[in-house]
Amino acid sequence: MAGIPEHLLKRAQERRDALAGKTAESGDASAASANVPAKTAENKPTASAPVVSSPPPPPPDPAYVVAAKSRKKIPFWAMATLSLLPLWAFLYVLAVKPQEKIIEGPLAVGVGVYGTCAGCHGAEGAGGAGRVLYQGEVLKTFPKIEDMLNFVYTGSQQYVSAGLKIYGNPDRQGGAHAPLSYNGNPMPQQGEKYGGGLTEAEILGVVCHERYVLSGADPQSEEWKSEYEKWCSPGSEIFAALEAGATNFDNLAETYSAMENAPAHVGTDPRPSGK
Ligand code: HEC
Repeated sequence: MAGIPEHLLKRAQERRDALAGKTAESGDASAASANVPAKTAENKPTASAPVVSSPPPPPPDPAYVVAAKSRKKIPFWAMATLSLLPLWAFLYVLAVKPQEKIIEGPLAVGVGVYGTCAGCHGAEGAGGAGRVLYQGEVLKTFPKIEDMLNFVYTGSQQYVSAGLKIYGNPDRQGGAHAPLSYNGNPMPQQGEKYGGGLTEAEILGVVCHERYVLSGADPQSEEWKSEYEKWCSPGSEIFAALEAGATNFDNLAETYSAMENAPAHVGTDPRPSGK
């Protein structure tokens, strides 16, 4: 009974009171006239009995309540998932941000520059219009990186013009390399002084790429460790100074003369190995 609203109880009470009044009237009437009303008077209290004992059945739920009760509930894991939204937004922003260069230093620069050499020397250094550079070949020609930097800067023609019969190591295993001896074509000069398009830092980068990536010098080995650290490692002081314009091929031997295993002369004029 606790659930029956006040106004319904009140209404029921009023109805009961009204019926009680009617019965009394009917009683009077029956006394006055025929016994039909008396029957009614007899019946009325019985008819009114259900009103007293059973409350009206609760009205059926309206359609929108039924719909609300029976619709699919939000799954319990939704909140946990939604709470990850800020993290998703953060990762999204990170992902669309332009990629910063992760690898720095000579090898990172060199791999890009090598695109201009690959047409003649092959993507892997297997050769073509230009000489083979892979499988240690270029290391045989230039045991000293300074000589290779000089040759790539100046190119074959400068060697010919200077009357030099050999570039690189004169005692090269398999024979020394003479300018224009490969297929009669020159190695084109790359340095600014002769109209080439590369900076000295780029020349160092591409030479590092040819030695350590294409020709396979091992930066960890006793033979190459010192050269790698000095010239081709990401922390190379010489590379950084070349990039910043703080040194150049003509004066770096002087600039770094106090360095341990000091670099030899590179130069921008063609010269015999080691001079
Ligand atoms: C137009 C073709 C061509 C292009 C481009 C070219 N080279 Fe060469 N390269 C040659 C030729 C030809 C030789 C052989 C030179 C000779 O016989 O005098 C050579 C020789 C060399 C050598 C000497 C190899 C040895 O063992 O004797 C090196 C090192 C070299 N090139 C590096 C480079 C680099 C670095 C680049 C890109 C910056 C480059 N080359 C771009 C044609 C090319």
